Amino acid sequence: MLETSSLYSGYGKIKVLFDINFKAEEKKITVVVGPNGAGKTTLLNSIMGLATIHDGSIFFEGKKLNGLPTYKIAKMGLAYLPQMGNVLSELTVEENLKIAGYLLPSNEVKNRMMEILDMFPVLRDFIQRKAGTLSGGERRMLAIGMALMKRPKILLLDEMSTDLAPIMVKKVMEKVTQLRDELGLTIVMVEQVARKALEIGDKAYLLVSGTMRFEGSAQELLHHPELAKMYLGIA
Ligand SMILES: Nc1ncnc2c1ncn2[C@@H]1O[C@H](COP(=O)(O)OP(=O)(O)OP(=O)(O)O)[C@@H](O)[C@H]1O
Ligand SMILES: [Mg+2]
Repeated sequence: MLETSSLYSGYGKIKVLFDINFKAEEKKITVVVGPNGAGKTTLLNSIMGLATIHDGSIFFEGKKLNGLPTYKIAKMGLAYLPQMGNVLSELTVEENLKIAGYLLPSNEVKNRMMEILDMFPVLRDFIQRKAGTLSGGERRMLAIGMALMKRPKILLLDEMSTDLAPIMVKKVMEKVTQLRDELGLTIVMVEQVARKALEIGDKAYLLVSGTMRFEGSAQELLHHPELAKMYLGIA
């Protein structure tokens, strides 16, 4: 569904990724793990037209993404949740969801908001609260909800579990699994806290210093005798 072929990319003249062959299959959770600075965010930025492509190609449903502006890529059905804050703190939960659906007809906005609130009951409880008063975990749920307003085909999630208590990480991971199983969404999840992500993932990639060191099933990487210990802190 989403694929990079011999991708070399970075920022201006800076080279970050080297010869990346990455594939995210439909209705699967693909996990990208690796140490700080490995280039995980850069991979997502490259897909979304936010980095410099030096060589190679990116395809989504057979269409080439290279050179397209970000808004066109988003319109094709790719939703990106960047690593840092993606809700508007001064607005309420309801206002945030409405803004996320601003391009839709108004009756559609209402319908989708209802669907999302069914999926995330915690947001319904807090519908009139300012997003800035939500906990870190609740804020991630809102950010995912906002991405879903546009009914994307694929969700690119960058470090959903950073700074969350283990119980919240578990909840977020359960939601992500639910999105795959109930909505049939395709998900790419970039995570430094690797274990939880690999536990729910289908396929996994390990990125180290801008190159792919492993490609295989998430379970295989989770139980890899050397790589899991060396790069993921999994004993
Ligand atoms: N906008 C930018 N301009 C120049 N260099 C950048 C930019 N963003 C990131 N880099 C560099 O690219 C390299 C990869 O960064 P990237 O953010 O992709 O890593 P990451 O794997 O997501 O790390 P982390 O786990 O810390 O989020 C780093 O050396 C970083 O300093
Ligand atoms: Mg990152």
